[in-house]
Amino acid sequence: MEIVNTINEVRQKVAQARSAGKRITFVPTMGALHAGHVSLIDEARASADKCVDGGFVVVSIFVNPTQFGPGEDLASYPRTLEADSKLCDEHRVDLIFAPSAEEMYSRKLGPFGGDGSAGLTTVSVAKLTETLCGRTRPTHFAGVCTVVAKLFNIVLPNEAFFGAKDFQQATVIRRMAYDLNIPVDIRVCPIVRESDGLAMSSRNAYLSAEHRNQAVALHGALKMAAKLIDAGQPQATTVINEIKKYISENAPAGEIDYVQIVDPDTLEDVQTTDKPVQILVAVKFAGARLIDNMRAGNK
Ligand code: PAJ
Repeated sequence: MEIVNTINEVRQKVAQARSAGKRITFVPTMGALHAGHVSLIDEARASADKCVDGGFVVVSIFVNPTQFGPGEDLASYPRTLEADSKLCDEHRVDLIFAPSAEEMYSRKLGPFGGDGSAGLTTVSVAKLTETLCGRTRPTHFAGVCTVVAKLFNIVLPNEAFFGAKDFQQATVIRRMAYDLNIPVDIRVCPIVRESDGLAMSSRNAYLSAEHRNQAVALHGALKMAAKLIDAGQPQATTVINEIKKYISENAPAGEIDYVQIVDPDTLEDVQTTDKPVQILVAVKFAGARLIDNMRAGNK
């Protein structure tokens, strides 16, 4: 496994692999890797290895400043490159791309004078980003889409892997790739959870012991809600009220940001649960904003 910090090096290594006939699979991350990230890496490895000429797995580790809003946790976001590299090596990653913010955003060469300023171009996806996390984080998805579009153009992967943990993000990126004709297959992998059900997240590290105990209520509430829907409760608002009640009883320190039941493709709120729906919650515990989601109504 190699670790590179520049766009040119990534392009060279990937071009070599591609000319050897290898399939390029890609897992974008912000590091502080845990079992959720590892599940994506393992999927990327397995998929790459299906190619007769072998595969080449690229992981990017970049805490992308443009997706953090003012007052969010950019400065305190965990940075654990050494442990991350070890984990990637153990899971047979071929290349880690760990650029600096300057490398990603301030071009020092080229026709625009290399003035070192951040780019003037952003990629934003309408509608899908105006609900759920987009309401409280209005600039977040433009930051995510812009960096992911840049990474896709740098790595040129055949296939890229995202987690259902960030359900809205995966939906938005899939739509961005579709709308911009980016020739990459977007794969979405299941949520990996702690043994008590809490969805794994780099941000769980911010939780106090008491808040960590209460945080399991997000999963508890989603399971309860999915059960209600699968048992035939047709009214989304009834289910939403039950979720809010469950969270306020079981996680009194949690401040609910949203509880929504949406169409899994359009992310529009539904009134009734007669078709499959996605239930999504965001809850803030002191400095830690946690999100989780679950599909229901498949029966
Ligand atoms: P990050 O939060 O590091 O997550 C990287 C990928 O891991 C995302 O696709 C996310 O959905 C997935 N992931 C995180 N926790 C997971 C879990 N418990 N189970 C399954 N998958 C999980 O998401 C980002 O970084 C950034 O926004 C990024 C896409 C890299 C752009 O900067």
